[in-house]
Amino acid sequence: MGKGRARKIRLVSGLILFAFVTTHFLNHSLGNISLEVMEAGRHLFIRVWRSVPGTILLYLALVLHMVMSLWALWQRRSLRMSVAEGLQLALALCIPFLVPVHILATRGLHEFFGVHDSYLFEILSVWVFQPQNGWLLAAAVLVVWGHGCIGLHQWLRLKEWYGRALPWLFTAAILLPAFALSGFAGVGKQIAVWARDKAWMGEALASFEFSHPAAVLQAFVYDTADWIYLGVAVVLALIFLGRLARKLWARRGARIVITYPDGQEASVEPGLSVLDASRLLGIAHASICGGRGRCSTCRVRIAEGAEICRRRARMN
Ligand code: FES
Repeated sequence: MGKGRARKIRLVSGLILFAFVTTHFLNHSLGNISLEVMEAGRHLFIRVWRSVPGTILLYLALVLHMVMSLWALWQRRSLRMSVAEGLQLALALCIPFLVPVHILATRGLHEFFGVHDSYLFEILSVWVFQPQNGWLLAAAVLVVWGHGCIGLHQWLRLKEWYGRALPWLFTAAILLPAFALSGFAGVGKQIAVWARDKAWMGEALASFEFSHPAAVLQAFVYDTADWIYLGVAVVLALIFLGRLARKLWARRGARIVITYPDGQEASVEPGLSVLDASRLLGIAHASICGGRGRCSTCRVRIAEGAEICRRRARMN
């Protein structure tokens, strides 16, 4: 698959996931009002995202975004990149290790065991029963949001209107996760007080409609999450080992010589973008689009060998 098409699929699927995450955090934010309002918001939220079209859209976007991101990691010839790109990649690599338990303990338990995974259930679980998971969830909020915001910024920064909208968008990008976390924590503190009352706790547990012992549910969540972690670790290891093997192999083949305007020369293997070549060799190179051929700083003149270049040179 061409880089341009893969990038478009990654962008569209990323936008769908960003819409999901934004509505999810807006829902958490309602906890700043009360648990009841939060639960009412959840009814609306699951009506959209747990409908058949919503479910297909969400999980298709999730799978496509992951596959295209791994494909991009494989295709990228150099891991030298801007700070923003590096941070986006680092956050992306954390997501598969932070989010699975949350998904399995909510939608997973609902779909496979019929658990009523209300906010009361989720917050009681992570605030009272397993507070260590609360920290992981807070980290997941920040990591997922940070990754999405950097991706949006990278996409929009060349748009003419973006500079004017940036202060407003930046403010929203800071406030939304802050409200989401404070909504969650505020309700969590309240629930921790209610949970001291045995009668209240009995009613709360009954409302979750457990049909299996807690040990079975926990085994489902944590054993499945362990398999996901293992699968992700193996896939990442294979990609990085494959990249290393490709790099060693490429050293044996043909080279392309790039001559810079100041006379510096770089000899690189075929397949690298000009930006990649500059970064690999430590040559300063202005870049706005990340080497995608949009901002023109990678413009080249082919001094020799034009006759052996392939005709198609568009990147996207
Ligand atoms: S970085 Fe944009 S064209 Fe090279």
